[in-house]
Amino acid sequence: MPDSEHSYRRAKPRFDDDEPLFVKRGRGRRALQSLASFDAADGLIAGDRWSTWDQSTPSERGPLPHPQWLVTDLAATDTELGILKTGKEADVFLLRRGIQEADRSCLLAAKRYRSAEHRLFHRDSEYLEGRRVRESRDSRAMANRTTVGRKMIAVQWASAEFAALRRFYLAGIPVPYPVQVLGTEVLLEFIGEPDGTAAPRLADTRLRGAGLADLWHQLAASMCALARLGFAHGDLSAYNLLVHREQLIMIDLPQVVDVIANPRGGEFLDRDAENVGNWFSARGLAAVSPGTPGPGELAGLLRAEARLR
Ligand SMILES: Nc1ncnc2c1ncn2[C@@H]1O[C@H](COP(=O)(O)OP(=O)(O)OP(=O)(O)O)[C@@H](O)[C@H]1O
Ligand SMILES: [Mg+2]
Repeated sequence: MPDSEHSYRRAKPRFDDDEPLFVKRGRGRRALQSLASFDAADGLIAGDRWSTWDQSTPSERGPLPHPQWLVTDLAATDTELGILKTGKEADVFLLRRGIQEADRSCLLAAKRYRSAEHRLFHRDSEYLEGRRVRESRDSRAMANRTTVGRKMIAVQWASAEFAALRRFYLAGIPVPYPVQVLGTEVLLEFIGEPDGTAAPRLADTRLRGAGLADLWHQLAASMCALARLGFAHGDLSAYNLLVHREQLIMIDLPQVVDVIANPRGGEFLDRDAENVGNWFSARGLAAVSPGTPGPGELAGLLRAEARLR
């Protein structure tokens, strides 16, 4: 590896678990802007936009029936409430979509993929390798990383994540409800409290030992369900799992791997199982509930679910 690349990698951590970039709002429980602060005379207040709901086609919206909490009115506006997290490939913002007059609103997480120059491309090559991009001019632009190509990659990431979320949500796997995708932005159900405090990532909880048994059980069930559909998460770790009201919710799914089509599919299943298995073991997961695989048994079970050897 050339020196310059080496120092670049060191300066910019590659994985979720060593990133100093994590900025989590809500430690100080900042109060959210109330709907009453909309400026009725002027229309939109600074930073707001009209709801983008009508800009997406039905296939770019979440599965039907839309949940009751979701505001789908065209008269709604989106208010930016702050950043939840800056990442290497995307930034996640907190939005409120609401209608002041109706006193109705919902919180959304807006994951915006970056196409900026300094984005790390470590997942792009795997992505481009594993999937066929039909239009050859597009694939050339992406492969050459032209400005347009970079934007296209970001759009592809957003739509890949949205498609995976749609599919898994419909299969009953606990993921945030995918609200809509528009260009490089994926809007998701916000997992957290009504005051805007995001649910902690599993890695950020203090859970240990027996306190982890139920979450391990939930995780094994989600991963088996994914494998049964023929998928591996592809980047699963305690940093891509949220814990909300004792429920484990899987996030960050742009790189899902079709384990049947991908010749290395089994390895992705193994890697995900090993990542989370090691994490739970290190945190002292002792006994697992009857019928639940232990950390060392998960990979084999996933392969069996996916009908791989
Ligand atoms: N739906 C959501 N509700 C609440 N918080 C969320 C939601 N989605 C993401 N977050 C927060 O934003 C963080 C980043 O999201 P995500 O893991 O999807 O992207 P990312 O980490 O930037 O991607 P990468 O793994 O490439 O860095 C999560 O760790 C979580 O804290
Ligand atoms: Mg992540």
